[in-house]
Amino acid sequence: MQSMKAFRSEFQPRNDDILLTSFPKTGTTWLIALCHNILSLDDDGKEEDDVLKKMNPHELAPPLDVNFLSDQVQDLLLDPGRSGGRLLQTHLPYNCLPESVRNSGCKIVHVARNPKDTLVSMWHFYNKILGPFPVERAVESFCSGVLPWGPFYENVVGYWEESNRRPKEVLFLKYEELCRYPEEQVRKLASFMGRPFSSMEDGDAEVGKVLRYSSFNRLKELEVNKNGVWELHRLPNNTFFRKGTVGDWKSYLTPQMAERIDQLTQLKLQGTGLSL
Ligand code: A3P
Repeated sequence: MQSMKAFRSEFQPRNDDILLTSFPKTGTTWLIALCHNILSLDDDGKEEDDVLKKMNPHELAPPLDVNFLSDQVQDLLLDPGRSGGRLLQTHLPYNCLPESVRNSGCKIVHVARNPKDTLVSMWHFYNKILGPFPVERAVESFCSGVLPWGPFYENVVGYWEESNRRPKEVLFLKYEELCRYPEEQVRKLASFMGRPFSSMEDGDAEVGKVLRYSSFNRLKELEVNKNGVWELHRLPNNTFFRKGTVGDWKSYLTPQMAERIDQLTQLKLQGTGLSL
C-alpha cells in the first residue's frame, strides 16, 4: 500500500512514456516483450544482444504500483537505458492511476483477455507460487471480485471506456486478437507508439522480427525463463510462461462454472460495447 500511495502521489509522467496496463494474467508479459522489441528496432541490434535473453520481460518494466519505492524502479524512472520513451507497467485500474497520469499526454496500452482464460491462468499461477487450492475457490474469488488488484471487470471496462473517449492516448488490445491477427495487431500497436512500420517489404520483415523475438515459444525456451528467478519478487521466471493459448479454460472449468462466469460477463459488460 505504501508503494501504491507513493506511486499515486509522486509519479511524474512524461509525454513520451508508454504505460502498459492489464489485469494480471491477461498477457502482460507478451505486451512488455512486444513493446520492448518495437522500441529496440531503432537500436538495430543482433539477436545475441537481445536483453530478453538475460532477463524476463517484467524486469524491463516492473510494476510501478507494488514496486514504486524499489531502487530498481527508481533507477529505471531516472534512466530507462534506451532512447525514446520509458516503458512502464501497472495492474491498477484506470480510476486508481495517479492523477498526474490521467491528466498527462502519456500513452496507455491495455491488454485484455477472455475472463475464463484469465481466471484459469491466474489459478495456475497462484497454485504454483502459493500451493494448491481448489478451482472452485478460484471461481468464487473471481466472481466476487476478491482478487489481487481488485475485480477483473471494473479494471477492463475502465480502460475500455477511456480508450473510446481518448483513442489517441489509450489503446485497447485483446490477447485473442494478438493470437489471431498478430501482424495486424503489432502494426496497430507500433503506430500507436509512434513507430509505425512501413507497408513495404522491410516493414513486414520488422513486424516478423518483433513477433519472433516476443513469441511464447522463444521466450519460454530461453535459459533465463526456464531456470532464472525474478529477484525483485523472488518468483521463478517460468511462472510467467505456461501454455499461451486461447480456450484452455475448457480443460479446467465445469459447464456450470463456465455458465456462471458467462452470465457475470454478460451482466458486467452490458451496454459497454465490449465483448471478451
Ligand atoms: P496461460 O497461463 O494461459 O498460459 P501475464 O503475462 O499477464 O502474467 O499473463 C500470463 C499469460 O500469458 C499466461 O497464460 C502465459 O503463458 C501467457 N504468455 C506469456 N508470455 C506470452 C507470449 N510471449 N505470448 C503469448 N502468451 C504469453
